[in-house]
Amino acid sequence: MPKVSFYPADKYGDVPEGMSVLDASEKLGLELRHDCGGFATCSTCRVMIVDGVENLSEIDLDEENMLEEAELPTPFRLSCQTMIQGDAVFLIPEPEMDWSKGALRELNALTPMSRAVIRVIVEARARKAGESVILPDTAIPAVEKAKAELEEMGGDKAAVSALIKRVCELP
Ligand code: FES
Repeated sequence: MPKVSFYPADKYGDVPEGMSVLDASEKLGLELRHDCGGFATCSTCRVMIVDGVENLSEIDLDEENMLEEAELPTPFRLSCQTMIQGDAVFLIPEPEMDWSKGALRELNALTPMSRAVIRVIVEARARKAGESVILPDTAIPAVEKAKAELEEMGGDKAAVSALIKRVCELP
């Protein structure tokens, strides 16, 4: 049976092949939001893939449309639409932090497809630094740094996952 892990909750275990990531999270005792009940119409069940992208079902049209509408790029997936075919590691992004108006302007200047990933990276670093609100002084260099790191990776999914793993201090 495939082994799956969820961070930062640190829940892991074996789940049947073919089970959705959402069902797997419930089986392991996690309560992931899933407002639309698993019909690919809300995006609240989003997870980030940290490892094992090759062990998951392909993205179908419904999921692709919803990810696009919610501006969620790779490595985000909708857990209700993603079936497990082998070992995989997931990150459930923590609830979003508050950004001041000026800081948010910096984030919103990014392309939609990089915004969600950069937000997770910047917030993880800010949490680690003990900050509770993202202010412009933090946001401007932090967004620039994350943007440069992602650009350097040139769409290499494994490198992006490794960066997220490092920043979020996943084992
Ligand atoms: S539960 Fe709504 S998209 Fe997955």
